[in-house]
Amino acid sequence: MKITIVGAGYVGLVSGACFAEFGFDVTCVDKDTSKIDDLNQGKIPIYEPGLDSLVNQGIKAKRLTFTNNLKTAIKISDVVMIAVGTPTRRGDGHADLTYVYEAAKEIAESLDGYTVIVSKSTVPVGTSRKVAEIIKSTRPDLIEGTSFDVASNPEFLREGSAINDFMRPDRIVIGTNGDKAHKVLQKLYRPLYLIETPIVSTTPETAELIKYAANGFLAMKISFINQMADLCEKTGADVQILAKGIGLDKRIGGKFLHAGPGYGGSCFPKDTLALSQIAQQYKTRCSLIDEVIQYNDQRKLDMAKRIIQAVKNAGVQKKVAILGLTFKPNTDDLREAPSITIIPEILKNDIAVSIYDPLYYFGSERLKHATDYESELKKATFTKSAYDAVTDAGCVVILTEWNEFRALDIEKIYKLMDTSATPLFMDFRNIYRPEDMEAFKYYAIGKKQL
Ligand SMILES: NC(=O)c1ccc[n+]([C@@H]2O[C@H](COP(=O)([O-])OP(=O)(O)OC[C@H]3O[C@@H](n4cnc5c(N)ncnc54)[C@H](O)[C@@H]3O)[C@@H](O)[C@H]2O)c1
Repeated sequence: MKITIVGAGYVGLVSGACFAEFGFDVTCVDKDTSKIDDLNQGKIPIYEPGLDSLVNQGIKAKRLTFTNNLKTAIKISDVVMIAVGTPTRRGDGHADLTYVYEAAKEIAESLDGYTVIVSKSTVPVGTSRKVAEIIKSTRPDLIEGTSFDVASNPEFLREGSAINDFMRPDRIVIGTNGDKAHKVLQKLYRPLYLIETPIVSTTPETAELIKYAANGFLAMKISFINQMADLCEKTGADVQILAKGIGLDKRIGGKFLHAGPGYGGSCFPKDTLALSQIAQQYKTRCSLIDEVIQYNDQRKLDMAKRIIQAVKNAGVQKKVAILGLTFKPNTDDLREAPSITIIPEILKNDIAVSIYDPLYYFGSERLKHATDYESELKKATFTKSAYDAVTDAGCVVILTEWNEFRALDIEKIYKLMDTSATPLFMDFRNIYRPEDMEAFKYYAIGKKQL
């Protein structure tokens, strides 16, 4: 079976490399010529653990190819997957479907023989229907159900553990309108039958909504534990023990109960906004999600306020060292990361900021290309290590729980910091134990403050 994946980003590239590993012939197409040039030389444009070797294995086995030429790839494909971005539409919070519709038109122009067009992108209810309409209006000679079908197969992989998530998913969701397309998708996921992956077979509409409901629920779970963290701080309770205490209840489950500075990333913020817009469009109530969106936006600002206030109250050196820039460890994705809200707020208050992130550090190629965030970060200083970042700072903030921040030499950190007043250590990921941090004024999330 031949597969074309349109869009070689986080989802398209990982899916392509994994399907090639399963033994399919995969072509990844992207509009971005420099991305394709890099991929053809075995260079991976994103950071995702294990992806480098998987892509190169696929290239070597001649099962994975990259091109800008959509036409040739589509003609010979049995399955075409759309994995383009669906960012928030400027001004109203809806998912922007421009890239999906453009891709649908381009795909239609080259269809040849029965092909299943599958949306892997996260798209609002009814998008598969619209994609089918675009195909029919672009190619009136094609008959839905005979020449092509459109299916929804939302992707649930997480950046940072994307390969494992793709190879060992909790479930596969397949939304089709008939048996013919369903059989093709079943064949595509047959390699996962061995590990007994549950398959949820449904309509495209339900599949589309499952993805938003899943992300909405997870964002809600994070916001819930963050609100409990606020309450713990006021009452002297401990949010980590509270999370354990509720998470052991199988009806609740322990995952996504880590209190922190608010969720970020390329999915939860935009998908919660889009879900809220879908509910408004269909005039139904989705007030839980509306509250989650507002609370999470405010939480990032509150975290900035907490840092600014602590620095002012403690009378420490007005320099804050930020450890971690990405929205979570093991990804280079900065989209909607808490750091992108928090750092400019600190800078606005005439407090200097030094930054170290294992992927964005002084001199790193990635930092040179992070031009989308130039304005937010331009007054901050990037350093080469966590220890360089904390040098002469009055406050250190852990924003991302990268592994290399889990066993920092705390004595060394203290000695490097400005100690004219007791330095602050703000652990927004609860990596350290308060009792080990007595040299500092230590702030954890959702715990009694020392
Ligand atoms: N990133 C994630 O963790 C994740 C997880 C699950 C689902 N999703 C969903 O998957 C979709 C893709 O997300 P992503 O993070 O991979 O996006 P991305 O921005 O990393 O990649 C999208 C790619 O599509 C390319 N593209 C756009 N239009 C094109 C066209 N007409 N032809 C060829 N290439 C085109 C872009 O150049 C880009 O390389 C989104 O809908 C997202 O919500 C993302």
